[in-house]
Amino acid sequence: MTWAWLWWLLGVVVAVKLAVLYRNREEIRACFERDPAASNWFEVVLTYAGLHAIMMYRVAHRLRLWGVPILPRAVSQWARFWTGIEIHPGATIGRRLFIDHGMGVVIGETTILGDNVTLFQGVTLGGTGKDKGKRHPTIGNSVVIGAGAKVLGNITIGDNVMVGANAVVVRDVPPGSTVVGVPGRETKSADRYFPGINLDHTHLPDPLADRLEKLQDEIDLIEQHLKAWKSNQPK
Ligand SMILES: CC(C)(COP(=O)(O)OP(=O)(O)OC[C@H]1O[C@@H](n2cnc3c(N)ncnc32)[C@H](O)[C@@H]1OP(=O)(O)O)[C@@H](O)C(=O)NCCC(=O)NCCS
Repeated sequence: MTWAWLWWLLGVVVAVKLAVLYRNREEIRACFERDPAASNWFEVVLTYAGLHAIMMYRVAHRLRLWGVPILPRAVSQWARFWTGIEIHPGATIGRRLFIDHGMGVVIGETTILGDNVTLFQGVTLGGTGKDKGKRHPTIGNSVVIGAGAKVLGNITIGDNVMVGANAVVVRDVPPGSTVVGVPGRETKSADRYFPGINLDHTHLPDPLADRLEKLQDEIDLIEQHLKAWKSNQPK
């Protein structure tokens, strides 16, 4: 009799796990699409902290939608304990989110994430500390946010934006542009617009360096003119 119960329990656990995996199949596929290190299905399912955090978020979010008290936050804190990723159950997350490595990622309560978003470790989608109500960012589709970047406040990040590692973004960013630095400076936008996901976040333009180079060119030109003027002066 005891064995029958145990088999029944095991069957329920396996069925629930398969159902959860089936519901998250798109996120599992996203791991393969966006992480060159992902080699096999079992490894991804068993060891990818980002995937585990998203699965637990989906449970916490559902419980919150049902109006269950305390339990959603408890699930979210449990997920944080295991993965180092804190996703508030109130956040709204689109399809195929991929969190690479994960540790230190924070997604605030009123954050809205589009589809195909990629986050690296240490990303904060947080509030500035001075707003109430909707106080976290709205992130468009196919956005890539580099390691350690902070996106703060009720701002909108357009589709296909790339946020450089360690950038601090406190202003809206139009679609297709790249933001780097502290505070985040936007670089070329329209000509960088492309559909789909581009993970080349290591070759980002540096607007400050570009400006400094232009200034140096102008100084060189002035020096040339000055030298020419001096050499034309009567001795
Ligand atoms: C700095 C902070 C407290 C806002 O202060 P504030 O005096 O209200 O600042 P404002 O929003 O008026 O911005 C003032 C200037 O500072 C810049 N700025 C704001 N926050 C900044 C930051 N974190 N880093 C660099 N520059 C920042 C703004 O771009 C603005 O620049 P500008 O005048 O050239 O346009 C806030 O933006 C911040 O960083 N809070 C920390 C929030 C946090 O850690 N959240 C995590 C939650 S999990």
